[in-house]
Amino acid sequence: MAMSSLQLNNAIAKPFFMGMSPSSSYKNSVGRIRCAATTPSKHYTITLLPGDGIGPEVISVATNVLKLAASLEGIEFDFQEMPVGGAALDSTGLPLPAETLSAAKQSDAVLLGAIGGYKWDKNEKHLKPETGLLQLRAGLQVFANLRPATVLPQLVDASTLKKEVAEGVDLMVVRELTGGIYFGKPRGFGVNENGQEIGFNTEVYATHEIDRIARVAFETARKRSGKLCSVDKANVLEASIFWRKRVTAIASEYPDVELSHMYVDNAAMQLVRDPKQFDTIVTNNIFGDILSDEASMITGSIGMLPSASLGESGPGLFEPIHGSAPDIAGQDKANPLATVLSAAMLLKYGLGEENAAKRIEAAVLDTLSRGYRTGDIYSAGNKLVGCKEMGEEVLKSVDSQVPAPV
Ligand SMILES: NC(=O)c1ccc[n+]([C@@H]2O[C@H](COP(=O)([O-])OP(=O)(O)OC[C@H]3O[C@@H](n4cnc5c(N)ncnc54)[C@H](O)[C@@H]3O)[C@@H](O)[C@H]2O)c1
Repeated sequence: MAMSSLQLNNAIAKPFFMGMSPSSSYKNSVGRIRCAATTPSKHYTITLLPGDGIGPEVISVATNVLKLAASLEGIEFDFQEMPVGGAALDSTGLPLPAETLSAAKQSDAVLLGAIGGYKWDKNEKHLKPETGLLQLRAGLQVFANLRPATVLPQLVDASTLKKEVAEGVDLMVVRELTGGIYFGKPRGFGVNENGQEIGFNTEVYATHEIDRIARVAFETARKRSGKLCSVDKANVLEASIFWRKRVTAIASEYPDVELSHMYVDNAAMQLVRDPKQFDTIVTNNIFGDILSDEASMITGSIGMLPSASLGESGPGLFEPIHGSAPDIAGQDKANPLATVLSAAMLLKYGLGEENAAKRIEAAVLDTLSRGYRTGDIYSAGNKLVGCKEMGEEVLKSVDSQVPAPV
């Protein structure tokens, strides 16, 4: 079995940098992958959730890279592919079928592509693809979302920020994932005292929810440069005043970590003004959602950014931070590297297989150094490739690290 999701001891160290189409029934779609280079000594079950749009394209690439890199470390996988999001709505009528959640819970780790698309945009809320994703995160109880944003030297020109601002950025956003306004009650629609229609949500956090994400963030910061910035809106929101109070209380357990606090509006500004001031950021669900997307643009493209979602026990959920990109889906234009790097996070944080993770990270860097670029990170003088070709080049880079047989 995999290590517990929050056995973070050696996992969160600085620096971060470290085509399958849905089957008709999705049942019994377990395929055993034999290791290529060594006799398998370890065995894991991975649930693959390709989802919608570019999801199946990037999952296909990432799965091949995962298989090859892991096989070189003597690791064997059972993959089970299950439907989620719009694909699940089409095949089962639900955005997260019970079978999908059950398979995910029983596996060692879950690799997700993306969900959503125009087709389901007008569905009722409980039948939206996004509802399936929220149910999956809640069902797996993955409350800690780790979103690294690292400007790779090879891609510094892809950043929209000036080179001197972007160069060397290496930050980690630790986002609370299963609480706050996305889940808080009451929520809904109604009519106010003036007879006007209203929509409303509730931002609410309990002590244990803040304490546990704060501890993950302090542990993360401790393994990086020892600097943690907690982002809130404590000048306006009671939930944020309480957030700040609990984060400050937990700080006493980590005297070696320097804690600062920042309002979210200022943080949004500082991220583009001087992103290098940040190392680890901890924040609630909605602020983390927004700030991590903003941080992604510093790195050049949302197509480069992986994420890990971890719980106290059980399998972690690993996914790129981008969505299903319906505007480029099915055109072989997607950048698969965010998902490939999510597979590296799966190995590192989900399975504790650091060496295999490093093989993937090194292969991505090597592929970029050899000049291969998808459209979203392309700059003049490089080789423009599609999703599949990028995957093939990463595989070549993984392969080239194999020591030649004596
Ligand atoms: N975790 C998820 O599955 C997730 C996250 C965000 C949005 N969504 C869903 O995705 C759908 C589209 O949402 P959106 O357009 O706001 O966000 P998006 O991330 O799908 O796309 C935003 C922009 O980035 C581009 N892009 C995204 N990923 C890329 C990649 N790997 N390579 C190259 N370009 C890439 C897209 O082409 C688009 O121009 C919606 O249905 C939304 O609900 C899902």
